[in-house]
Amino acid sequence: MKRLALLLLSLVTCFSFVFGDTKSAETNSTKIVMSDELKAKYKLKPHHEHLAFDCIDCHTNQGDDPSKFKNIKDEGCLSCHGTKKLLAQRLKFMDTLKANPHNSVHDGPTLYCDECHFEHKPSINMCSECHEHEVPQWMGVTP
Ligand code: HEC
Ligand code: HEC
Ligand code: HEC
Ligand code: HEC
Repeated sequence: MKRLALLLLSLVTCFSFVFGDTKSAETNSTKIVMSDELKAKYKLKPHHEHLAFDCIDCHTNQGDDPSKFKNIKDEGCLSCHGTKKLLAQRLKFMDTLKANPHNSVHDGPTLYCDECHFEHKPSINMCSECHEHEVPQWMGVTP
């Protein structure tokens, strides 16, 4: 009985240590409280929304004030999506029509993501600037 009490006591001490530690780690990190207001203002694309990202999964090293967040640019997208060459490779089947958006006949795999993709607003397609009528036949709507 005494041993059990001792065991319980040490467990309690152990837990409070663990939880105390997590708490202080959290206050030290840039954990942003995602208010419903922020979530509504900066909606994510469906393909990202269901992954339950936090703002800072994308806005890494941009401080903890959401109003100061800026575009995450190529570097941000590629931190999860690999390289431009890899992206070009994944849509290689589109090269047959010379319509791979990630391997343009003009520029190869060098375009900036935000020439087409946006996160909190509708995406566009820069090819349409000059190929308005062909683009819908060449490729899908930019996700
Ligand atoms: C924190 C990691 C992360 C970042 C940053 C990120 N993504 Fe994603 N994205 C994912 C994951 C994980 C998926 C779902 C798995 C997949 O389809 O590759 C996904 C899916 C997608 C899809 C749909 C893929 C499909 O097959 O339908 C697109 C398009 C996309 N991301 C574009 C972007 C762009 C553009 C950026 C930069 C603005 C970006 N992502 C930044 C992790 C990320
Ligand atoms: C010229 C416009 C354009 C540019 C620039 C562009 N994309 Fe795309 N992207 C598209 C289009 C259009 C699709 C859909 C292709 C389809 O399915 O028809 C797409 C599809 C995707 C997909 C889903 C297909 C896959 O491979 O999983 C991801 C992820 C993606 N883009 C990420 C990126 C990232 C990251 C960048 C920057 C390095 C980028 N894109 C640059 C137009 C573009
Ligand atoms: C999947 C990556 C991703 C996530 C998650 C994400 N953002 Fe963004 N954010 C971007 C990109 C890319 C831009 C550049 C503009 C755009 O594409 O809409 C941006 C731009 C911004 C900007 C600059 C203002 C603007 O509209 O250009 C603010 C502020 C911002 N995001 C806030 C947030 C907040 C708050 C959250 C969490 C609720 C969040 N973001 C989550 C990718 C992301
Ligand atoms: C600034 C204008 C402009 C932009 C932006 C542009 N193109 Fe072109 N593109 C042209 C011109 C000009 C030609 C040559 C005349 C023609 O065939 O229409 C051409 C030709 C082509 C051809 C035919 C080439 C051949 O050898 O048969 C394809 C395919 C093509 N572009 C795809 C794209 C794709 C995909 C994008 C986006 C990644 C894009 N273009 C962006 C101006 C542009």
